Amino acid sequence: MSEPDIPWWHSGVVYQVYPRSFADGDGDGVGDLRGVIDHLDHLESLGADAVWLSPVYASPMVDNGYDISDYHAINPTFGSLADMDELVERAHARGIRVVMDLVVNHTSDQHPWFLASRSSKDDPKRDWYWWSDSPTNWRSVFSGPAWTLDEATGEHYLHLFAPEQPDLNWENPEVREAVYAMMRWWLDRGIDGFRMDVINLISKRLVDGRLEDGPDGDASPHVLNGPRIHEFLAEMRREVFDGRTTPLGEAPVTIGETPGTTSEHGRLYTDPARRELDMVFTFEHVDLDSGPGGKWDVVPVTLPQLKGSLAGWQEALAETGWNSLYWSNHDQPRVVSRFGDDSPEHRVRAATALATVLHLHRGTVFVYQGEELGLANIAFDGPEDFVDLESVNHYAEAVGRGEDPELVMAALRYKSRDNARTMVPWEHGEEERAVLDHYRALVRLRHDDPVVARGDFTLLLPDHEQLWAFTREHGGARLTVVANLSGEPVDVAAAGIELEGEPVLANDGTSTVSTDDVVLGPWAARVHRS
Ligand code: NOJ
Repeated sequence: MSEPDIPWWHSGVVYQVYPRSFADGDGDGVGDLRGVIDHLDHLESLGADAVWLSPVYASPMVDNGYDISDYHAINPTFGSLADMDELVERAHARGIRVVMDLVVNHTSDQHPWFLASRSSKDDPKRDWYWWSDSPTNWRSVFSGPAWTLDEATGEHYLHLFAPEQPDLNWENPEVREAVYAMMRWWLDRGIDGFRMDVINLISKRLVDGRLEDGPDGDASPHVLNGPRIHEFLAEMRREVFDGRTTPLGEAPVTIGETPGTTSEHGRLYTDPARRELDMVFTFEHVDLDSGPGGKWDVVPVTLPQLKGSLAGWQEALAETGWNSLYWSNHDQPRVVSRFGDDSPEHRVRAATALATVLHLHRGTVFVYQGEELGLANIAFDGPEDFVDLESVNHYAEAVGRGEDPELVMAALRYKSRDNARTMVPWEHGEEERAVLDHYRALVRLRHDDPVVARGDFTLLLPDHEQLWAFTREHGGARLTVVANLSGEPVDVAAAGIELEGEPVLANDGTSTVSTDDVVLGPWAARVHRS
């Protein structure tokens, strides 16, 4: 922390590890905690201020750990609690915080709470989950209905995700207390905060004590940002976080994953005075290529839409609240393939141009494993190449209802979560090194220059189809950022941008950059200071 009241994450970068595909420390072909410990050098050399671990808890792995059967145990595939403690200690020794994933909208169907709940209608934990003899018409996020009949008691239980991920009933105060106790247990172990999985889904909308049908089976209006969400988050804050300090002497960080959230909601969740969350992940920019039919109804995105989305959040949270900034994670395809150009000719420049614009916005930056190497989507031959349940289920359902298999495959190739879940390569060629060096420079700039962390944001040329340009201003200094997000050269001066002042950073050869050079080559990005 540079100033007493400014938290580390104002100038911080969080590196996301998806443990099973990050690094294999024990030679069984699957990533693990030892692999993370072994690669702390990589994180440190990138300048990461924190590492967020996707779930490492005990789990049947139906959804790769987002189905937790014991919140107090580590999945043996990943190691042990002793490994976890060692990781926290070693990360802290380097000044790197450890943020755990918190998955409490649902548990695994193998969690003892659910086993008890399903055992009988009279079980004391029956009401810890949602049971009904007249289920709503909601569809699950992973295809098929969101309710499954449980033969044992003849009632249906709710699962917004897979049937093996039953939703906890947050209306029940015992559930909330049990979750808070578990969170305190982890903080007592020395972790530095939580990334909270689909946290804005925990309050379901009840009408006269009942859940209601959604339009065409869409659960969203009944589960997103529900009526008690702010109450629950404020309660969590009081019960878990108030008065706590981490081993590094800081307040734990709270990061909400919040699909279907507008910047208005974002401001409410992150207004420090409301004491709910520190920041939320918006989905607005990663939903731009989803058509009316949802995620798999892929539509083109224009640059004005993309930069307008980020600028809208910058503006909405300029005075109150805080942004998180991300291009990728384990649920999204690789950004260089999605919004850039992953051809051999342009991949390095496209990856670094996208990184430049993102990192120069205001907010906490998240880098997803492999993004700093410019990793691209993978080439899937056929449906048998997908392993993620979301992709597998969607293919079966869409083709089953008569959609053209080739079109279904095209959407999957573009958007499947499997794209981001391949093993990270640890032998780096020239191209990976070039991207990595640029990421390191961006992180350094954020750490060193208060204009990056704090400066006011102004979007320039909002309608320009190729240039992404903006300024950041703070304490009399100004950074001008301009990037050509296209494969054609663009005359920046003709577009009305003055690249005045000193060149600070460029992805097209810093030493050759001069203020007279006004044509930006394909995917070139520059930052100037005046
Ligand atoms: C969001 C997580 O990021 C995703 O991977 C998971 O499948 C769902 N939530 C359900 O937990």
